[in-house]
Amino acid sequence: MKVTVVGAGNVGATCADVIAHKELANEVVLVDIKENFAEGKALDIWQTAPINMYDTRITGSTNDYSKTANSDVVVITSGLPRKPGMSRDDLISTNAGIVKSVTENIIKHSPKAIIIIVSNPLDVMTYCAYLTAKIDSKRVFGMAGILDTARYRAFLAEALNCSPKDIQAVLMGGHGDTMVPLPRYTTVGGIPVTELISKEKLDAIIERTKKGGGEIVNLLGTSAWYAPGAAAAQMVEAILRDQKRIFPVCAMLNGEYGLKNIYLGVPVKLGKNGIEEIIELKLNKEEKELLDASAKSVKEVMTVLDNMNMAVK
Ligand code: NAI
Ligand code: 2OP
Repeated sequence: MKVTVVGAGNVGATCADVIAHKELANEVVLVDIKENFAEGKALDIWQTAPINMYDTRITGSTNDYSKTANSDVVVITSGLPRKPGMSRDDLISTNAGIVKSVTENIIKHSPKAIIIIVSNPLDVMTYCAYLTAKIDSKRVFGMAGILDTARYRAFLAEALNCSPKDIQAVLMGGHGDTMVPLPRYTTVGGIPVTELISKEKLDAIIERTKKGGGEIVNLLGTSAWYAPGAAAAQMVEAILRDQKRIFPVCAMLNGEYGLKNIYLGVPVKLGKNGIEEIIELKLNKEEKELLDASAKSVKEVMTVLDNMNMAVK
């Protein structure tokens, strides 16, 4: 199995490191536009192989996509990250140009690949890659839900003083402040979370989760990478090992949840064919209203992309 990770920056290098460390593929190719950057990162990661005891061969390339040929899965992390004061949407024009050109190169050399987008604004960059790749949307989707859910689970584990392993949860909607956490679908060792924590504390955790990306931007001056890189690698694992795992993923909706022609975070089953099923939860009125509001805000940014006239259609 072969995986390409485009963008050897914070998220891309972390993702490649996790993929290699877990031996998810025989070969990992890291690509970046910055001269020698991917080569250097790949060499450093490869030198952990004798320490971490894995065989996965990792190499780097400066924009030479022939090295990525016949990849099974490609993770796209190239693009600018946020700085303090910026929203994810502020990145749209620069990152759309980058995601479009990277996707063209990927599809040329790996027409059968499954493509996972990480670049922000996530939902709209995934749409941009889909328009460019012109392949089935079951093979083009975005990483955000696993990260957002992990933040929510980590905050809950802290508040309840319990293992994060025992917290099961799902968040839906766009990757932004309109994301929709679902307390009704959150359990701790099988126990509904609402039986273990007060409404006030749970509401505060939900608010912190929604702003979880911004909290790290304010601390570091750039966005997060350990959890995002690990989250993208977990999607790669589900695909390459055909695990049929159920994760929140940014997927193209064609009527599910009453929404059409929009990329939005929903629970899906991930396996060797990419998205093998979109799972439709029976949302109550309040949850559906929150999802619709999130869809509306994602749609507005999708329209900005449509109006940019990038000839992606
Ligand atoms: P970074 O700046 O550390 O790395 C980005 C890399 O992309 C740089 O090395 C840059 O040279 C490279 N790059 C730029 N244009 C390129 C091109 N045309 N071809 C190949 N490489 C190119 O940024 P970081 O922190 O790794 O973040 C990457 C992206 O992921 C950002 O857009 C960020 O907002 C997003 N992100 C998304 C998350 C999510 O949950 N979906 C979570 C964290 C970050
Ligand atoms: C995050 O949520 C900025 O999307 C990035 O950390």
